[in-house]
Amino acid sequence: MGSHRRIVVLTGAGISAESGVATFRGPDGLWEGHRVEDVATPEAFARNPALVQAFYDARRARLAEVAPNAAHLALGRLDAAWPGELLIVTQNVDDLHERGGARRLLHMHGELKSAWCTACGTRHRWEGPLRHNPPCPACGAQRLRPDIVWFGEMPYAMDRILHALGQCDLFIAIGTSGQVYPAAGFVETAREVGAHTVELNLDRSAMSNRFHERRLGPAGTLVPALVEELLA
Ligand code: OAD
Repeated sequence: MGSHRRIVVLTGAGISAESGVATFRGPDGLWEGHRVEDVATPEAFARNPALVQAFYDARRARLAEVAPNAAHLALGRLDAAWPGELLIVTQNVDDLHERGGARRLLHMHGELKSAWCTACGTRHRWEGPLRHNPPCPACGAQRLRPDIVWFGEMPYAMDRILHALGQCDLFIAIGTSGQVYPAAGFVETAREVGAHTVELNLDRSAMSNRFHERRLGPAGTLVPALVEELLA
């Protein structure tokens, strides 16, 4: 591990599971209680904004009740101590990476604590609910939406992510099921430039056989161990 200099880390819902944030797929997953088409598409928001806002309001409120776990904290330590290139790309919309100390971080699927005005385009840090249609602090229009990338929308910062993947020599995917593109394809992009690829997951994912190395277990145990190896 010690010979790598340029690292890209991709995280998914599994890294926040031990903090008590629900994952999407699986028995207690978020998509079990909701149809994706009802809450996570632009069409759903146009059809029933109150339902969509209530879904994200509840998830935003939940952030006050959860804390970063050992995996987030380990990535924070890696970010602080790693002398080479590092980019942590998360598909998660929670703020646990930030609270765990990560700085070189991109939220490719948006953030619960950001509201986006569809009238003037401004984004605002947002802690409270949106379902009562509060006015935009910049323009006053009551047209704020969750700053979340919905199905059918373009993930954020893809140019920066693809640039980092194109240069990396180590790619690590943590707690992601490998079912949603473009993130699911990052392992291939990293392999094409000769990077070593490592998957950390509780179970095998849809992409497991594309990685050079797989470690099975909870992120709260596996990530601190990997970070120790990298910083040794
Ligand atoms: P998923 O819910 O699809 O997958 C969670 C993954 O985490 C699974 O592979 C689990 O095996 C693994 N896992 C669960 N608990 C774990 C633990 N304690 N330690 C390690 N791994 C664990 O979540 P994502 O892959 O993040 O997109 O989903 C990708 C995207 O699909 C999300 O960003 C979201 C969703 O639809 C949008 O909303 C745009």
